[in-house]
Amino acid sequence: MPNKIVFSKLGGPEVLEFINYDIKDNINDNDVRIQQTSIGLNFIDTYHRSGLYPLNIDFPICPGIEGAGEIIALGNKVNNFRIGERVCYANIPLGAYSEIRDFPADKLIKIPNYISNDEAASVLLKGMTVEYLFERLHKIKKDEYILFHAAAGGVGLIACQWARSVGCKMIGTVSTKEKEKLALENGCSYVINYKNENVVERINEITNGKGVKVVYDGVGKETFDISLECLSLRGLLVSFGQSSGMIQDINLHKTFNPKSLFYTRPTLMHYNNTREELEYSSSTLFKKIKNKEIIHNIKKKYNLEDAAKAHEDLHSRKTTGSMIFKC
Ligand SMILES: NC(=O)c1ccc[n+]([C@@H]2O[C@H](COP(=O)([O-])OP(=O)(O)OC[C@H]3O[C@@H](n4cnc5c(N)ncnc54)[C@H](OP(=O)(O)O)[C@@H]3O)[C@@H](O)[C@H]2O)c1
Repeated sequence: MPNKIVFSKLGGPEVLEFINYDIKDNINDNDVRIQQTSIGLNFIDTYHRSGLYPLNIDFPICPGIEGAGEIIALGNKVNNFRIGERVCYANIPLGAYSEIRDFPADKLIKIPNYISNDEAASVLLKGMTVEYLFERLHKIKKDEYILFHAAAGGVGLIACQWARSVGCKMIGTVSTKEKEKLALENGCSYVINYKNENVVERINEITNGKGVKVVYDGVGKETFDISLECLSLRGLLVSFGQSSGMIQDINLHKTFNPKSLFYTRPTLMHYNNTREELEYSSSTLFKKIKNKEIIHNIKKKYNLEDAAKAHEDLHSRKTTGSMIFKC
């Protein structure tokens, strides 16, 4: 019998249980069955587990929205994939933390031969996120200053590499010496260690008092005010996550009027809403990987049964780069 992780109530990492399960005989017409080898660990998995992002599905819930593996069976109406093909995905429905799962074919991507399953599971969700943040939401430019929080994280290290490939001057915030080094090695132009440096002062130094045109903020509650202060007149705050917690209620006028700022709260699913967008996003990412502009940063591989430990590690802020589960 295959194994999977489920949670039957909301809570901390301890609610994650490793269980075995039966696979149903039939497959929905538009689904494929995947024998997974590699599963992506993402911060959003912790929001689902804790209830920060409410889910409208019944317990027990198998978390996870990113995986890679081989197709072992096809639904009756699937004609664009075949058994034995290597595929990956980064989308709902939840259920990636499992050895074998069914997934809708219209959200599935074939893995090119120059990318391994482990790499695909480590890079697809985070890399497509950087693609829409840097190419479609706001197109970053050569010599443009941007501020990116958590620059040594999973999304962060891909952002460093992407910014370098464009010649954009990314300024990254990090919390440790090790993370400083990693962000710089991956292409960040400047790093600010917020534990011992004042982020706003450093941004003013680097940009000659002008501030940055765009801040990419995946940290949320703890960085929101700093992000606003770092923006130039008519700057854009891209609030794409909340690893430190949800931003508190704000007064729109007092917050955005003093510098005529723009604000957006984007989500990958809305930028890859159609098949065309998904294919555009994944192929743009894959081209960067083929050109070696993006190189995977798998920093740790966990056994699936150690999901609770992996979530603890992600919460602890000690992790860097991407992490995957191996099946
Ligand atoms: N909207 C979207 O489409 C989208 C898609 C993918 C990911 N995301 C978001 O992007 C962000 C990064 O995701 P990721 O999976 O790559 O995670 P990650 O960046 O690898 O991990 C989170 C990092 O946030 C920083 N952090 C600051 N305060 C924290 C706190 N109180 N608790 C935990 N971490 C804190 C830490 O870096 P330092 O130690 O350097 O501060 C930590 O390593 C998350 O908010 C995620 O939800 C959004």
